[in-house]
Amino acid sequence: MEYAVKDLSLAERGELRIQWAERSMPVLRLLREEFERGKPLSGVRIGMSMHVTAETAVLVEALRAGGAEVYLAPCNPLSTQDDVAAALAKRGVHVYAWRGMGRREYYWAISKAIEAEPVVTMDDGADLISTLHALYYGEESFGAQVAREELGGFDPSLVERIAGGTEETTTGVLRLRAMAREGRLLYPVIAVNESRTKYLFDNRYGTGQSALDGIMRATNVLMAGKCVVVAGYGWVGRGIAMRARGLGARVIVTEVDPVRALEAIYDGFEVMPMREAAKVGDIFITATGDVSVIRREHMELMKDGAILANAGHFNVEIAIKDLESMAVSKRKIREHVEEYQLKDGRRLYLLAEGRLVNLVAAEGHPSEVMDMSFSNQALAVKYLVENRGKLERRVYTLPEELDLMIARLKLRSLGVEIDELTEEQRRYLESWTLGT
Ligand code: NAI
Repeated sequence: MEYAVKDLSLAERGELRIQWAERSMPVLRLLREEFERGKPLSGVRIGMSMHVTAETAVLVEALRAGGAEVYLAPCNPLSTQDDVAAALAKRGVHVYAWRGMGRREYYWAISKAIEAEPVVTMDDGADLISTLHALYYGEESFGAQVAREELGGFDPSLVERIAGGTEETTTGVLRLRAMAREGRLLYPVIAVNESRTKYLFDNRYGTGQSALDGIMRATNVLMAGKCVVVAGYGWVGRGIAMRARGLGARVIVTEVDPVRALEAIYDGFEVMPMREAAKVGDIFITATGDVSVIRREHMELMKDGAILANAGHFNVEIAIKDLESMAVSKRKIREHVEEYQLKDGRRLYLLAEGRLVNLVAAEGHPSEVMDMSFSNQALAVKYLVENRGKLERRVYTLPEELDLMIARLKLRSLGVEIDELTEEQRRYLESWTLGT
């Protein structure tokens, strides 16, 4: 099968959406032109598990311009933009994604990316690469079971032919580092998330804005005057806290890292444990990459009407099973809003089934920030292909000069010039003998 999407007739709308995104992605456009000329990815098959959004479509086209053939599966069952998937299918991309896939369908799509025998894998959350590893090591994960059935077995030499992989997000990088630590990582991976032009902008400004956008689109609540509890003060949490304050909310931060907790205090936020914040919060947003950050003991303390949303990668940060077991009834009150009625009459509202609220209830990150994230992705793929066979089986960061190049191109696209070091300054900064 060449593709599997919800409805091919949505392609025209998807085309417009892709064109709109492309306008705000000048760096990736430049890379595409360069790829078009040099064809650095000629004949390279790429298996991708990423959010199927307009910005991803622009990345896919840059890779194809470089000569790659792309097999695209989603990295979340609820984040696919069906019109974009249709447009990509029409353009000849092997895309296997529709919004609202079941768990089995989701891993079926991942198995299509594996079946393509990719030379490079691209992940956002490491589902594709973990499934490949589970297949290789004969582990019985659900994803591997589905893939094994779909593929009719598994040829381990498929993994040996892979030049490398890329990983987009914090959670995925954590999983890959764990695999590398155990000596089980089967090929080199570039942690795109570690580029400064990625996490400082995408995680902070991208998720900061789009998570609030998702909550507002889903609920239409007024943010001004609300007490917003942000769990986790990493790059994502910082962005969300900053934007919630900007909309007039009173923001409380919860943390487990003492340095980040201090940072939140000095940034002007209140910090307290979740068991205290649970009593006063109107809106809770998790951004930790951790599991069961909001659980029964907290839900028991929450006010009637509290809203729960997650911006971390997986739907594990809010313990949904606790909510399910505490509820006497449940109904969908708006699109992306589930009302849980508890025994004592209180109602708690879960957004987007606890999945990434910015991608499910809004459109994900604005294209401007994805321009930099996906330029890192495109350059990472080129780097892996150019260095095929020369890299170790570990997690790499993209070379700093590429990170700086992306920043320079972005500045140029904004029409901003900056100073350059003089020869004297360069010597001064590099020496240790020049003192007072
Ligand atoms: P980070 O590692 O910079 O920050 C996570 C923070 O959460 C850390 O400061 C950590 O101490 C804290 N934390 C961990 N367990 C906690 C707990 N039980 N209670 C309170 N705080 C806790 O990670 P980053 O980059 O901020 O990413 C966070 C999550 O968001 C990851 O899952 C990442 O993959 C995801 N992400 C989602 C995006 C989206 O589009 N929604 C975009 C980028 C990242």
